[in-house]
Amino acid sequence: MYDLTGKQILVTGASKGIGKAIARQLLRQGAHIGLHYNRSAQGVEELIEEFGAERTLPIQADLEERKHTEALFQVALKQMKNIESVVLNAGIFEPHFIDDPLDSWLKVWQRTIKINLESAGILTKLFLEHFQKKKQGRLIYISSRAALRGETEEYLAYAASKGGLSSLAKTVARSFGKYNIKAFVVAPGFIKTDMAMEAISKIGEEKVLDELALNRLTTPEDIAPLVALLCSGQLDHSTGTTIDINAGSHIR
Ligand SMILES: NC(=O)c1ccc[n+]([C@@H]2O[C@H](COP(=O)([O-])OP(=O)(O)OC[C@H]3O[C@@H](n4cnc5c(N)ncnc54)[C@H](OP(=O)(O)O)[C@@H]3O)[C@@H](O)[C@H]2O)c1
Repeated sequence: MYDLTGKQILVTGASKGIGKAIARQLLRQGAHIGLHYNRSAQGVEELIEEFGAERTLPIQADLEERKHTEALFQVALKQMKNIESVVLNAGIFEPHFIDDPLDSWLKVWQRTIKINLESAGILTKLFLEHFQKKKQGRLIYISSRAALRGETEEYLAYAASKGGLSSLAKTVARSFGKYNIKAFVVAPGFIKTDMAMEAISKIGEEKVLDELALNRLTTPEDIAPLVALLCSGQLDHSTGTTIDINAGSHIR
């Protein structure tokens, strides 16, 4: 395990699923964590109880709202003086179908782009300004296999938002490397969380398993160690890279 003692890291969507597992792993390895959440305060309270208030900072923000997103940055910066890495994990998946009325189809599109991509864009812009002054920083984007392989029609907005994130990360890596700013993309396949369980049970767990090279579904705990390694700085010279964690369901 890499020692992350003293490192300050902000994790968005740390209240459940993948973000919570990432936050827990980083806390286990000694880091100070800004625990962003929106509705699931309880998930963040559990982490604070487990690791104590000294190394945890809860921050509530609805990332569909620009003002909340800006406030998240301001509060994080005010309370944590030396943020070195930001894990942009918060996101939604809402299915929509091409035979839906355009109004409702578009509502899902707009909400998805706002939460999954636009908020990450705003946080990227604000943290890049900050990191440029500090001459260091690391942005880790939780994208998706959907951005690389494509998915079925109900994922149109979701896949587009994740494709945007992946392109954003690559451009950050190429444009800001000379400021010692690094960017990485983590692209999970199906992971056992609230977000995916509905889709997994609709497709059928057996069928999802058949698509995998491995013999069990990936869990949030399978993602967390990679993010800890990225936060350690050991992989900095892989900046711009996309790392797949999909149990061999999409090998590029
Ligand atoms: N599960 C998968 O199969 C899978 C596959 C590929 C990529 N991913 C990506 O991994 C990330 C985490 O997904 P997950 O599976 O862990 O999902 P999850 O269990 O549903 O957790 C989603 C997280 O995002 C936060 N969030 C949702 N809407 C928000 C909003 N409007 N404002 C602020 N925060 C919001 C939630 O906060 P609250 O609960 O506090 O509101 C929660 O912490 C997402 O970006 C997702 O796209 C997941």
